[in-house]
Amino acid sequence: MAELLQKVIEENRQGEAFAPFAEDPNQYQKKFYIESYGCQMNFSDSEIVASILQEEGFGATRNYEEASLVLINTCSIREKAEQTVRNRLQAFKKIKDNRPGMLIGVLGCMAERLKAKFLEEEKLVDIVVGPDAYRTLPGLVSEAEGGQKSVNVLLSREETYADIAPVRLDSNGVTAFVSIMRGCNNMCTFCVVPFTRGRERSRDAQSIVNECKDLFDRGYREVTLLGQNVDSYYYTSSGEGVTFDKLLEMVALISPLLRVRFSTSHPKDITDDVLHTMARYDNICEYIHLPVQSGNTRILQHMNRTYTREWYLSKVKRIREIMPDCGLSTDVISGFCTETEEEHRDTLSLMEICRFDMAYMFSYSERPGTLAARRYEDDVEEEVKKRRLEEIINLQNSHSRQSYQNDIGKTFKVLIEGNSKRSDQDWCGRNSQNKMVVFPKSTYNLSKGDYVMVKVNSATSATLIGEITVVA
Ligand code: SAH
Ligand code: SF4
Ligand code: F3S
Repeated sequence: MAELLQKVIEENRQGEAFAPFAEDPNQYQKKFYIESYGCQMNFSDSEIVASILQEEGFGATRNYEEASLVLINTCSIREKAEQTVRNRLQAFKKIKDNRPGMLIGVLGCMAERLKAKFLEEEKLVDIVVGPDAYRTLPGLVSEAEGGQKSVNVLLSREETYADIAPVRLDSNGVTAFVSIMRGCNNMCTFCVVPFTRGRERSRDAQSIVNECKDLFDRGYREVTLLGQNVDSYYYTSSGEGVTFDKLLEMVALISPLLRVRFSTSHPKDITDDVLHTMARYDNICEYIHLPVQSGNTRILQHMNRTYTREWYLSKVKRIREIMPDCGLSTDVISGFCTETEEEHRDTLSLMEICRFDMAYMFSYSERPGTLAARRYEDDVEEEVKKRRLEEIINLQNSHSRQSYQNDIGKTFKVLIEGNSKRSDQDWCGRNSQNKMVVFPKSTYNLSKGDYVMVKVNSATSATLIGEITVVA
């Protein structure tokens, strides 16, 4: 069981599908199945959807063949993400053909992008719901049960689902994701998110703190605060507003035993206040995901990232001045419109300077409706994009290996998340810098959710291997 959970968590991190699992699915008369693709926001939304459906008497199942409602929470970020969803729908079709009455709903970013067109393109789909319309899902299901296809893709300027307590599905009981905002106002020219998720809005700070407190009371020991651009979090109802550094502090103060992480930071908005707050509280993890996208200023302008190469480098310098041991990761896109060989080499040289511990790397995929699709020609040949991506990946692999090797001999505080993937004789958990650490359980009587000090003896390119020195 723990093996399975770990597998699901791992897959989750890599943005692949997961299927939630209710503790006792038999207490519900109707069953739903949900699969999620894309970023953590989508996985987090699926837990909100599960909560809404549970109120309506639906229980989650892991087996879509026994579900009366099959939902797929989709991603539009790259063409490949959409293709994966379409292939998955074909698998559902086979089941549906033999099970009249089974309903199929498409949620998330692809639903928002394609709207009612989805019903024409994929005949098996009964329900299409955008990310801001999940409260209307029960009504849409009723309509569909009555034989009418139903769609709600209205975007909202206010919806944050602040009052909905997400049903934690497929949880390890130790770490949880908490959405703190929705949407994005940045309009990076390559990106579909502002179109699929709508305007940026921040969730009530107190409702975030309450959710985190509740998680802590239920035994969780780590929360990751989620937003497309957490640094622009700002909530105000009356009086003084809450900025992201203040919110971080409010969550960190819940308990020194509750770890706090967050994602994603934007280089244009991350402030010294955030960095100082991170440094001040031991329980705020020293790890920042700071997507750079490109190391060349002209390309960054073309992408409308609104910072330069120098600005990005100065932010990284500042992070390391304030937190010398801070873990750092990034996102990179190869072959954006008009990118020259020299500009590509600027990305490689920036990576050499920053020495990221980890990176998500992609070749540019044109998305319909974005500014880049409308204004710029997707003129870097596919082969060139692929070759540049390979160079980026090779360089990053060598940096990641080095970064993990450098940790040999060091001792880290690790939060135990569960059994390691390979053996139930070993624990796994992450250090503050977000690196996975695996170590023998030994004779200590520990459980998941405990903190331990682990000395690293060896490393692969994505895991540190060590032994317990002290029970923290
Ligand atoms: N809000 C985050 C990113 C969210 S999307 C930020 O601003 O950094 C996650 C990543 O997908 C992006 O950082 C980018 O690297 C990648 N991405 C987005 N659109 C893409 C596209 N059209 N082609 C290739 N990669 C893309
Ligand atoms: Fe997309 Fe840019 Fe917003 Fe990130 S900041 S979600 S890349 S538009
Ligand atoms: Fe994908 Fe939507 Fe997230 S496009 S990356 S699921 S916000």
